Amino acid sequence: MAENDLLRQLESFERDSLAALEKITDEADLTKWRVANLGKSSFVMQVFSKLGEAPKEDRPKIGQAANQVRERLETALAEKTEFLNRKSLEQKLTQERLDISLPGRQPRKGRLHPANQNMREILAVLSGMGFEIFRSPEIETDEYNFELLNIPAYHPARDMWDTFYTTDPGVLLRTHTSPGQIHAMRTFAPEPIRVALPGMCFRYEQVSARSEVQFNQIELLAVGKHITFGDLKGTLQDFAHRMFGENVRTRFRPSYFPFTEPSAEMDVECFLCGGKGCSMCKNSGWLEILGCGMVHPTVLKNGGYDPEIYTGYAAGLGPERITILRHNVEDIRYFWGNDIRFLEQF
Ligand code: DAH
Repeated sequence: MAENDLLRQLESFERDSLAALEKITDEADLTKWRVANLGKSSFVMQVFSKLGEAPKEDRPKIGQAANQVRERLETALAEKTEFLNRKSLEQKLTQERLDISLPGRQPRKGRLHPANQNMREILAVLSGMGFEIFRSPEIETDEYNFELLNIPAYHPARDMWDTFYTTDPGVLLRTHTSPGQIHAMRTFAPEPIRVALPGMCFRYEQVSARSEVQFNQIELLAVGKHITFGDLKGTLQDFAHRMFGENVRTRFRPSYFPFTEPSAEMDVECFLCGGKGCSMCKNSGWLEILGCGMVHPTVLKNGGYDPEIYTGYAAGLGPERITILRHNVEDIRYFWGNDIRFLEQF
């Protein structure tokens, strides 16, 4: 083939190729174009493979021209590829836009533990009645938990509280909130006081559906100059009415606690059966909710009050006992079992 013919053919090949490339709009056609125009059997590549057949003196010129054509086509191909990529990206960005107006997934909300819900309810009622909330330590000394509450080491009443002792002599986990009485009295004496002492208590006990090794208590304490057993009864009855309803009946039974004299326990009419008798109240019609009494003179003295001048009343109630009664929970151990299926019901 004559040199000039070949050069002209290369030129028109390049023109046709570029014109074809111009029209391409998708990737599949681009691949076909590359095979046809830059592949082994494309015209420009054929020129290379047949270079040996051309006259020797023409070869450099033809080779150089073919090289330039190939380079320009490759550049054009690279530009086109980039152009198509960008275009398809733009298309995706407009078509596949995230619809941010869709509502997101709701995170699961936590809630207050039923024991805390109940605790807050009871404390709200008590503070409405003028009781101040007073907190005292969960780790106590034998002195505060027992001695100062008129329970000396030799006294058989100690058997009422199975105790977790620590390896520190005389240090224990409080078995009731009553030691808070001493802390409160020693904080406020000789001022009159009216406090509610909430918090966790611990007992080294056989665990059952009605008792756990840990539980909350709320202690009530009022100390002043003219406080009588009538104040105790009236206040606790008012509390029962605020908690369980205006018309609920209450009754007091004589009892014994070393730190009160006289001592009593208060029952409320069973709110499930209205006093008729059912499985919750064991057919008695009554539910025991607290222990109470007039503060023992020795305890008043230990707290810094002169028992000749001051009197007081105290009470201790188990809020979880009230919760299981209100919600008909059959096992008190659910409270600290960490089973979300139980906790979610409240
Ligand atoms: N501390 C007693 C207990 O855990 C409950 C109690 C009874 C508290 C009578 C009192 C009270 O303040 O007067 O068994």
